[in-house]
Amino acid sequence: MIQHNQWAHLWQLDKSIAYLNHGGYGSVPVHVQEVQNTFQDRASANPNRWFRSEMPNLMIEARHIVAYWFGVAPERFAFVPNASQGVITAVQALVDDATAQKQQAHLIGTSLGYGGVLYGMQHVATRSNATYSVADLVYPTDVGADVISSRIRALLPADNAPTIVVLDQITSETGVLLPVTEIIASLRATHPHIRFVIDAAHSAGMLEQPLPVGFDVWVGNLHKWLCAPRPAAALICGSNEIAALMTPLAPSWGFEKGFPTSFEWQGTSDYSAYLSVPAAITFQEQWSWAERNAHNRAVADGAASLLRDAWGVTNHLGELVEAPWMRMIRLPTTAPLDKSQIDSLIERCGLVLNAECAIMTVRGNSYVRISAHMYNEVDQYEVLVGLTQLLP
Ligand SMILES: Cc1ncc(COP(=O)(O)O)c(C=O)c1O
Repeated sequence: MIQHNQWAHLWQLDKSIAYLNHGGYGSVPVHVQEVQNTFQDRASANPNRWFRSEMPNLMIEARHIVAYWFGVAPERFAFVPNASQGVITAVQALVDDATAQKQQAHLIGTSLGYGGVLYGMQHVATRSNATYSVADLVYPTDVGADVISSRIRALLPADNAPTIVVLDQITSETGVLLPVTEIIASLRATHPHIRFVIDAAHSAGMLEQPLPVGFDVWVGNLHKWLCAPRPAAALICGSNEIAALMTPLAPSWGFEKGFPTSFEWQGTSDYSAYLSVPAAITFQEQWSWAERNAHNRAVADGAASLLRDAWGVTNHLGELVEAPWMRMIRLPTTAPLDKSQIDSLIERCGLVLNAECAIMTVRGNSYVRISAHMYNEVDQYEVLVGLTQLLP
């Protein structure tokens, strides 16, 4: 029987499981879901009125509320479905700008980047005649500003050709908080023309200051730590000049009005997740950020110590700074798990231990990645001790 705290009933999660992977896909609170349902009900009750007048006005209102919550002008903010789509949209728009000036663009990612985004960058480069390279960063050592800046600098073109660097604010698989502001400052000092696209899939809701200094485009999920319904993400431009360059991947009505109106009609679709983001913000703010941070950090730290002690593994992190509410714990495996072993272990963890978590192999070591939100408590992670009994 899983124990739940006084806040767990506020989320829709199945109470027969320990849900320890909030970082994977987020989870939606009951009240936020109800708000989304009301928008969907209105769309169903009168689609003509909804799509012609109600929804467009509500979209503008939601954009203003969420932009102000981030502390940015609504003219520099657009909703996009998710971090993957938003980052690739931004990269393609910046490559198109270079192409319009008859220049070849150079795309640079890092090996700590999200696999799906790296595939997307590679494809943008192929179809747009840009170059694509990846700075090799070894987890868990290569995570400081100096080493990351120098690995990226080594890949920069010798001339001042347009260069787009995609940096994760919190790395996807490995949950490392990268010193993005310092990396941008270091690279800009020698190469002021670089454009930085920040993949901030995990930042909104978890970081007190999610926007680093000096970004050109910041893309962050709102359906993860902010607990908005899926799919909802923000694309924020760092300047009016960049905003003028942002175009959707599939332009439609409103295109001629430019950013952000060009992002507000992507055909007949379900926009209710975007419209529910203000409700998700209100939901979160029943606790101050400091309260959420204190609870979630303490749970993540307590759970990580519990599992390390039980498995007899050391903390492998050294100086590395972890995402505040996620932890990586090395699994005591004799050999690294391959993809099919990982898939089977995650499934059996759910079915046998009634617990959901993330498991991955990085550079020859296998890890379990745990997350903590307000509905979690340390004792829920005890069931994961039994993961070792399920190892192949
Ligand atoms: C850094 C990073 N980028 C992109 C993504 C993909 O997010 P989404 O599936 O919402 O696009 C993730 C997912 O965790 C991520 O961590």
